[in-house]
Amino acid sequence: MPLDLGLISSLRPQTHLFYFPSIDSTMSEAARMVRNGACDGAVVVAEEQTAGLGRLGRNWVSQADVGVYCSVLLRIPVPPAQFPIVSLMLGLATADAIEKVASVACDLRWPNDVLISERKVAGILPHLVEQCIVAGIGINVNNTKFDEGLRTQPTSLHMARGGKPVSREHLLVQLLTSIDEFRDRLVSIGPRAILEAFSRASSYVSNRRVVIEDNGTRGITAGLDENGFLLVRSDGGKVSRVAAGGVRPAS
Ligand code: BTN
Repeated sequence: MPLDLGLISSLRPQTHLFYFPSIDSTMSEAARMVRNGACDGAVVVAEEQTAGLGRLGRNWVSQADVGVYCSVLLRIPVPPAQFPIVSLMLGLATADAIEKVASVACDLRWPNDVLISERKVAGILPHLVEQCIVAGIGINVNNTKFDEGLRTQPTSLHMARGGKPVSREHLLVQLLTSIDEFRDRLVSIGPRAILEAFSRASSYVSNRRVVIEDNGTRGITAGLDENGFLLVRSDGGKVSRVAAGGVRPAS
């Protein structure tokens, strides 16, 4: 069933929503809109993406009618050095929306994988376009199967709830509300609010044995630095900042 746009606009009348039954990627459309001066909070949402973008040049499988695939324009003043904090903030908002609408608790794997029992249920791709943050968010909602061979094992909310579907409209609306709430905290309190909330919400921030994807270093996670980068104490005792890529659990 396609998204019920009437329901979305009745629940969220303030949002400028740009809907596409099919698109290559909501990210490219959102970037084009930024260049044309689109307003803060505008949202591009698609029923399916034919060339969905994931992190690190990967693709994001975006099957029609079962997921939430959106890019949200956020015109918030964040210094470039603190860009990772925006990623963390979006992960928190996504997990919050899932918890509120689907009653499923998620874990967050730095910087922004949203996991249920170590399987990925949502991914986040923040881009900076002319000083505007384009927040790409993909959530596996009512998927009942996935392609083989994805890097991180995927799951959907439908699967996590033992076959109970979730309203994509309510999830999208709550996602936008949760983004509003977390961005307000970031702007009013500052990065500390996000760093503390992420550290509470993620099992990956401290005392977790991981391998750094980028360089294969193994170690134990040792918190976040002031800009939201993950710190890892290697087996040799050296503490380093994970500057790119992400981490995976290690044995
Ligand atoms: C990741 O690799 O974890 C990030 C995935 C981000 C996917 C979303 S779906 C909506 C938006 N449009 C895209 O092409 N990608 C993001």
